[in-house]
Amino acid sequence: MRIIRARDYDHMSRQAANIISAQVILKPDSVLGLATGSSPIGVYKQLIEWYKKGDLDFSAVRTVNLDEYVGFGESDAQSYIRFMREQFFDHINIDMRCTNIPNGLNPNAEQECSRYDSVIHALGGIDLQLLGLGPNGHIGFNEPADAFTKGTHRVELSDATIQANKRFFESADAVPRSAYTMGICDIMQAKRTVMVVSGSAKAKIVRDAFFGPVTPRVPASILQLHSDFTLVADEAALEYVK
Ligand code: GLP
Repeated sequence: MRIIRARDYDHMSRQAANIISAQVILKPDSVLGLATGSSPIGVYKQLIEWYKKGDLDFSAVRTVNLDEYVGFGESDAQSYIRFMREQFFDHINIDMRCTNIPNGLNPNAEQECSRYDSVIHALGGIDLQLLGLGPNGHIGFNEPADAFTKGTHRVELSDATIQANKRFFESADAVPRSAYTMGICDIMQAKRTVMVVSGSAKAKIVRDAFFGPVTPRVPASILQLHSDFTLVADEAALEYVK
C-alpha cells in the first residue's frame, strides 16, 4: 500500500488525476474502473481540463463503473449513469459505447449481475480502478458483512449508507434501498487500485480500513492485500495516520 498525502481536496484530486492520466498515456486503450460520489468529482474535473488542453485522449479508453441504484436509469437525476455523463463522459472524447454501468432498470438481478461480470471479463479485466470510501468502509456498494463478496451482486443498502447518501435526494425516504455493485473480487482483480479520500469525517474509517485488521466488517480493509493499491488522501482524512 502506498499513501500519497495531499494538502487538501484539490491537491488530492490532482494527484489522483496524475496517476490516471499516466495510465491513459501509457496505455491509450486502458480499461478504467470508475466511481461516483463527491470524492472523485475533482479528479474528473482535472482530467477534463487536461483533455481540453489537448494533453489527454480518451477515444480508445473503455470504462466500467462500480455500481448503480436498482430502479434508476438515465432519466433519474440521481442515477449513477447521469452522474457519470454530467461529471465526466459528456466533457471528453470517450466513445459512449465503450462505457459500462450496471443497468439499474433491469429487474432481473441474477441476469444483470452475470451480464455485468461477463462485460468485465470480456474487457480482459480492469487496468486501474478508482475508488471512494463509504463512511462505513464500503467500496462500490459492498456494505459491511460477514463475508467478502465475489462478483457483481444486488445489495440492500445499510442504514448508514442511506443516511450518508440522502444529501443527494429530497429526503432519506427517496434514497433507493438497493443497488447493483461490482463485488470485492472484481475490484481486487483490477491491476491497480487508487482510492481518493478527503475530509476529517473520513479520518476514523481511514484508520480502521488501512491500519486495522482485514475484515468484511470494513470492506475497504481488503485493499491492504492488493498488490498495487494507492491511497490518495488529504491531511484531514489522514489525521490519525502519522
Ligand atoms: C457511494 C458510492 C461509493 C462512494 C461512496 C462515498 O455510496 N456507491 O462508490 O465511494 O458513496 O461517497 P463520497 O465520496 O460522496 O463520500
